[in-house]
Amino acid sequence: MKHEIINDLESRYTAKKYDPSKKISQDDLAVLLEALRLSASSINSQPWKFVVIESEEAKQRMHDSFANMHQFNQHHIKACSHVILFANKLTYSRNDYELVLNKAVQDKRITEEQKEAAFGSFKFVELNLLN
Ligand SMILES: Cc1cc2nc3c(=O)[nH]c(=O)nc-3n(C[C@H](O)[C@H](O)[C@H](O)COP(=O)(O)O)c2cc1C
Repeated sequence: MKHEIINDLESRYTAKKYDPSKKISQDDLAVLLEALRLSASSINSQPWKFVVIESEEAKQRMHDSFANMHQFNQHHIKACSHVILFANKLTYSRNDYELVLNKAVQDKRITEEQKEAAFGSFKFVELNLLN
């Protein structure tokens, strides 16, 4: 018997046409956003923002950003229910990482002492930055 994940991968596809009258349910959207929130990153740095584009005004701005390049994507933006824009941070400081670690301490996933030790891994951030 084929593994469930292989079945899923064989039947998945990229939507190339959307029905503008249909909207994703809030429950399904919440699942997608939670899956994004749980994404793995180097040393759990989470150097990104996920921007959920829903209003007609925001979709228009996204649409217009393709005016000079990749125009083939414009029709998707107007027709789809939501766009999730993946934005990665161009700079990443120790203060950014401290916010992640403070949340981990607050949630009791690490102790205050482990937080200090975690900064030892910050060199990996420097390896991964675009510059
Ligand atoms: C990194 C990446 C970028 C892509 N960019 C676009 C895009 O800009 N516009 C689009 O319509 N599809 C885009 N696609 C979807 C591909 O066209 C699609 O995955 C490919 O044709 C294979 O089809 P399938 O996903 O249905 O198997 C992208 C896919 C990947 C993995």
